[in-house]
Amino acid sequence: MATRAELLIKGGQIVTAAHGEYPARGKAMQKLEVLHGGWVACAGERIIAVGTPAEVQQEVELTPETQVIDAESKVVTPGLVDPHTHLVFGGSREDEFYLRARGADYMEIMAAGGGILSSVRATRAASLDELVDAGRQRLSWMLRQGVTTVECKSGYGLDLETELKQLEAVRILQGQQPVELVPTFLGAHAWPPEYQGDQEGYLKFLLDTVLPAVKEQGIAEYVDVFTEKGVFSVEQSRRIFQRAQELGFKLRIHADEMHTLGGAELAAEMGMASADHLLMVSDEGIEALASSEVVPVLLPGTAFSLRKPYAPARKMLEAGLPLALATDFNPGSCPTANLTLVMSLACLYMGMTPEEVFNAVTINAAHALGRSDRVGSLEPGKQADLVIFAVDDYKKVPYYIGVNLVETVVKAGRVVVSN
Ligand code: NIG
Ligand code: FE
Repeated sequence: MATRAELLIKGGQIVTAAHGEYPARGKAMQKLEVLHGGWVACAGERIIAVGTPAEVQQEVELTPETQVIDAESKVVTPGLVDPHTHLVFGGSREDEFYLRARGADYMEIMAAGGGILSSVRATRAASLDELVDAGRQRLSWMLRQGVTTVECKSGYGLDLETELKQLEAVRILQGQQPVELVPTFLGAHAWPPEYQGDQEGYLKFLLDTVLPAVKEQGIAEYVDVFTEKGVFSVEQSRRIFQRAQELGFKLRIHADEMHTLGGAELAAEMGMASADHLLMVSDEGIEALASSEVVPVLLPGTAFSLRKPYAPARKMLEAGLPLALATDFNPGSCPTANLTLVMSLACLYMGMTPEEVFNAVTINAAHALGRSDRVGSLEPGKQADLVIFAVDDYKKVPYYIGVNLVETVVKAGRVVVSN
């Protein structure tokens, strides 16, 4: 007996990663499967059929109870995945934004006790409820833009209590609203004020106390480090990552963002899930990534907001790297939660094609979060996470820069946004 469809979406253009090996790289990254006038049928949380109307009607049972969404002359894609955000923080830093707009340097602001440390003060002062409320609002911005899975980092506590409070906020938000969250511990985001002049002391505290406590609470899936000149050196980062790996965490890294430091090489050496930023990655770094399974996650919104050179995306694509894109949403270097804007920036300033950017925010972003078996493409068996854009061609999504074209969002088979 054919499975009964509960939800049927009638395209339009059904747009998804070309089926094959994931993540998409090389020629596969340049391709999308585009089904004109296709249908997608869902039951419960899953997609049960994708194909021409005739194929879908043959494979599933449509009943009068089946909810039908007419997306004719619209674009249907997988729910977008944002694999790098700093979602949960107290306060905001608009004053710094305007200082930077008039020429102040991001790292200089940080060295003077502002930047990340300013958000650390505000996050320590915030209650758990305040963090949850702020996080919920930001997730609603993202969801309305078609984002259904979001990675969330801690890193504005830099002490045990506040790091756990941030991760607890993520745990509470998971299930309280539709977006699926992937928690990452980023205790090595800056040197905390209490340990100025005692880097070894903070490292010991992270290795011996904080990492085991985070593990014990089962509250983070990944560990990340801000590997950067004046922040955590490659050697210090390696020690943190080794301990994290021993404890069973998966790894991701802020690599070669402001300086060419070798973060990409470290990601390859340690078999990390992703290496992020890479504005200043060297040719050796690209080579190292090419001989690894690491997904490079590019964040052109940050280059845009900091007015820095963009990551060499074309070079990486030519080396066969499976690029993903993310917002880096955070209160300082990139206060945008708009992943489709990031797609536009990737086309305009990194020379990526619309096919490459769609793969980068769907299947490859899902892969960077270890979820490409469940989300990131429209295939039977996968979770029914879908977006309907009110345009007739997917190439118009990055083209209408900064316009929210999202009409409908489906998360796990349920309509959660309808504009
Ligand atoms: O990914 N580079 C380090 N961390 C963030 C910025 C955090 C902040 O400015 O608050 C980033 O750019
Ligand atoms: Fe970041």
